[in-house]
Amino acid sequence: MENTTQPVTSLPRIGDKAPSFKAVTTQGEINFPEQYKGSWVILFSHPADFTPVCTSEFMTFASMEKQFEELNCKLVGLSIDGLYSHIAWLRTIKEKIEYKGMKNIEVTFPLIEDISMEVAKLYGMLQPGESTTKAVRAVFVIDPEGIVRTMIYYPLSIGRNFDELLRVVQALKTTDEFNVAAPADWRPGDDVIVPTAGSCGVAKDRMESKDHTCYDWFFCTKPISKETVLKAITK
Ligand code: BEZ
Repeated sequence: MENTTQPVTSLPRIGDKAPSFKAVTTQGEINFPEQYKGSWVILFSHPADFTPVCTSEFMTFASMEKQFEELNCKLVGLSIDGLYSHIAWLRTIKEKIEYKGMKNIEVTFPLIEDISMEVAKLYGMLQPGESTTKAVRAVFVIDPEGIVRTMIYYPLSIGRNFDELLRVVQALKTTDEFNVAAPADWRPGDDVIVPTAGSCGVAKDRMESKDHTCYDWFFCTKPISKETVLKAITK
């Protein structure tokens, strides 16, 4: 019989409802993802407090928080460390670390304590081939309805690209808003991909449409100005 007292390792998938949990954080208790309903939220894990790659990541992410806030996107961190370790590490970052022009960086988003590993296991952040005690660098982008929309995993040794996370949120909001898709390396202001035509007739109309550029019948793009995109996706 299944032991229901032990946290079960699971891995949410894109399109799934984000698994619910309650946790203690540096900003008080949170009820995830319920209390974030109506906002986008990035839940991300880091391997350990007081480690260099994680410190560079937190400084970078915290210094970009306003850009995420403008997209109505909140940040929530997690590691398999206790609350007092989190508090001491974040205080050290603020008071002592100057890195790449960033200094006096205050991390004001919640950082979950997860000594029990319950949340890490619930979100597949603990990947034993990489480490049995430290979470990998996982990122879950969750939409205002609590649905997992993007998952990204990095190993312990490589810091994430936070511009890419910003781009992912921009792209998700844009593709939702305009019913389009985002091509490789898309950024606001670049052409977007229009949905594949369902029939030859639609394909022909599309290929002849003035504002569409078609590379073949299955691959058409159209321009949307940066201004239009940013107006639609920012607060
Ligand atoms: C780091 O953040 O520097 C780190 C953490 C765990 C393992 C390797 C590197």
